[in-house]
Amino acid sequence: MNLTIQPAARVQGNIVVPGNKSISHRAAIFGALTAGTTRIENFLRADDTLATLQCLRSLGVTIEERADGDLLVYGVGFDGLKAPAQPLDCGNSGTTIRLLLGVLAGRPWPSELIGDESLSKRPMDRVRVPLEQMGARITGNGERCTPPLVVQGVASSNGASSNSVPGSLTLNSITYEMPVASGQVKSAILLAGLQAKDETIVIEPTRTRDHSERMLRAFGVPVQEVFSGDGARVSVQGGACLVATDVQVPGDISSAAYFLAAAALRPGWEITVRDIGTNPTRDGMLDVLRDMGAEVALQNQRESGGEPIANVTVRGGDLRAVEIGGALIPRLIDELPVLALLATQAEGETVIRDAGEMRVKESDRIAVISRELRKLGARIEEKPDGMIVSGPTPLLGAAVTSPPGDHRIAMTLAVAGLIAQGHTTVENAQAITSSFPNFADLLQAVVMKTQIADND
Ligand code: S3P
Repeated sequence: MNLTIQPAARVQGNIVVPGNKSISHRAAIFGALTAGTTRIENFLRADDTLATLQCLRSLGVTIEERADGDLLVYGVGFDGLKAPAQPLDCGNSGTTIRLLLGVLAGRPWPSELIGDESLSKRPMDRVRVPLEQMGARITGNGERCTPPLVVQGVASSNGASSNSVPGSLTLNSITYEMPVASGQVKSAILLAGLQAKDETIVIEPTRTRDHSERMLRAFGVPVQEVFSGDGARVSVQGGACLVATDVQVPGDISSAAYFLAAAALRPGWEITVRDIGTNPTRDGMLDVLRDMGAEVALQNQRESGGEPIANVTVRGGDLRAVEIGGALIPRLIDELPVLALLATQAEGETVIRDAGEMRVKESDRIAVISRELRKLGARIEEKPDGMIVSGPTPLLGAAVTSPPGDHRIAMTLAVAGLIAQGHTTVENAQAITSSFPNFADLLQAVVMKTQIADND
């Protein structure tokens, strides 16, 4: 599917965006691990999170779509999960495969996990290493352990698979210092840690998104967190039980990012996104927008299920270049492509560094966004761990190509089209459905005097 974008005369609107993807995955998975019923409000219906639901169903979990839009997950507990009859298809979703590895690492039967072409190139050694230290066995392709994967937990000595009695927990507890800053890896270890004999500790040199920690607490599991400098030491006790609860999923700041960035592109453009999660491990983009010279206002700040929520308004101003690196990176890792676009309109050289992780996302985002924005006239120099973007540079519409499996590149290029002279065609925009199925409609709604055409 291609998206054709005409330049916007102005961008203005007050919108809501779909539910947070990370929180939706976790709510469904954690709900499955309880012995009760979890009701999820505003669950994200997009390819990635639907892949998680499908995998959970293949593991014997009943999930009901209610007429009012809520999702009911009938938990079976770790012990109630059943060996899947077919491979678990994680589609394009890194969160699905990595979090499920943490769950399945403690199950005494083998599971096969597969994914699409993009997921089949992504490294799983980062989860294999700690989970194998805990006693699981994970096989995949090559040194980087790319999918398809087979994961097998350890059978307990009496042949039982129960984790409800600490004495029968089969995984070893570990203390693991993460070499890469990854919320997915941390979450996988914590999920395996709940099936381990003792206390499992994850040390993260730089803090990553803490949705799992907050949600585990909401499900009644004590999680210890000790912060030092930019990092944290997070631990759970094996055998702790998850208790079903209701979850309200806030809007996803990573989806809102395209609209907030669009508003920031030109002085006077303005967008409000209501009810978005503003978790401090996720809101780095708001800091950067302010530093670049946009106005950012948070209203109606509140909390739900341990997650902060607000209405966020961004008003464009004259943009200036900034440096983005260090502990800020995990707080805006998925927003870096759209921030690179914004940097093309900022006065000076924006330096993005310490962001090598961008290369192992749904595509090599450093290479791809540099190449595609250059097709529109941007001045971007690719670095091993980031980019240097010079601005301001007028953009000229052209045909640009998103990798078929990378939603964030497609959405960034669509936003670029709003300020490119002439028309911009984004090829392979179908990946957008992995996180944001109504993106094009919402973009259409906030753009004045512009046409967006879907042409297959
Ligand atoms: C996610 C963590 C991040 C992020 C991804 C979702 C999560 O990945 O990029 O989109 O839900 O935990 P990493 O754990 O690889 O940093």
